[in-house]
Amino acid sequence: MLLSQQAQTTLFGEAVKSHKLPKTQYLGSKERLVKWIFDNAPKEIESFLDAFSGTSVVGYYFKNKGKKVIVNDFLKFNFHIGKALIENKDITLNDNDIVSLFSQNKKAGSLIEDTFTDVFFERDQARFLDNFRVNINFLDNEYKKSLALAIMNRALTRKVLLGHFAHLSALRYSKDPLRVKRNPTIARPLKDLFFELVPEYNNAVFDNEKDNEVYCEDTIQLIPKLKNIDLVYFDPPYYGCHPDYQAFYHFLETFVEYWKDKEFINGTKQYFPKKESGFVRKEETINSFKKLFSASAHIPYWLISYNSESYPEKETMVDLIGRHKKVKVFEHEYQNHYGGKGSKKGTKEYLFYCYE
Ligand SMILES: C[S@@+](CC[C@H](N)C(=O)[O-])C[C@H]1O[C@@H](n2cnc3c(N)ncnc32)[C@H](O)[C@@H]1O
Repeated sequence: MLLSQQAQTTLFGEAVKSHKLPKTQYLGSKERLVKWIFDNAPKEIESFLDAFSGTSVVGYYFKNKGKKVIVNDFLKFNFHIGKALIENKDITLNDNDIVSLFSQNKKAGSLIEDTFTDVFFERDQARFLDNFRVNINFLDNEYKKSLALAIMNRALTRKVLLGHFAHLSALRYSKDPLRVKRNPTIARPLKDLFFELVPEYNNAVFDNEKDNEVYCEDTIQLIPKLKNIDLVYFDPPYYGCHPDYQAFYHFLETFVEYWKDKEFINGTKQYFPKKESGFVRKEETINSFKKLFSASAHIPYWLISYNSESYPEKETMVDLIGRHKKVKVFEHEYQNHYGGKGSKKGTKEYLFYCYE
């Protein structure tokens, strides 16, 4: 039998459809490495924790492989991706939901219009976002809310040049005909971008017959509370390669949280104060790894993504891991520059395979 590209064969010879996560655009996304990571993972595991999940692309791969998956990220916009596509088994957005998301709502706030008009958006787009955000609160199901947030956040990274919010060139470039010719999405309305993405996200929702879970906590605090994890995957920010995710994606967090208690500072209007990561300042990273590894000692297998540009260097990481586990190091060399300091040609991506 000829299997389609999206199909695979189980041990019992049945064809099983493999579901597809919509394309990601996120600093440090492991979309291109996830197969390599899975191929080097222990196979006899039942439960998998993606402890710094970002786009959930790694958790989703393990969900496709039938594992019980738990994803966690300390940023709320990433939590909603996990809720929509990892924990969610069968809830999708229908035509009525979309009509209600686009309808005018007198209860809309003006946080986005007041703070971000002429920063990342024209006034009409900022107003659209305020209106859309309040409509999400009126959807009748938590998974629908998470799907709507995840899809709009993806629309936002498509619309804003470079897919992040740490620069102020987006509006200028969205009016530059040469730039628009190269990348038409930067000049398109968010409504259209959202609408186009809905089918891809709906199709990505599936049930792998496991009760998958999602958290939005500091990983070091969360891990001691979780029971029966066979394998944990750590993909923390790499110090040396843009570790401050809140500087790049603050707008998505603001859109999701709709802050009432923050200041908005600097040209890009980042919220202040920020959440504490523990992996952003050089002087805190070694101590955070020590705490992370101690908290995870009871989990039989760890996989850790890392690279040759990061601090602390590989030898120190091997030493820190060696206090708790045996370790093998797999290497992958980037052949192309995919954007972001961490994935430039010649950089080596490491995968620490840690076992008892
Ligand atoms: C390298 S990215 C993960 C990318 C992810 N594996 C993917 O493929 O999309 C690191 C993630 O760690 C999260 N993070 C940073 N500090 C954290 C902490 N203390 N606890 C939980 N998550 C944290 C960031 O929000 C970011 O999404």
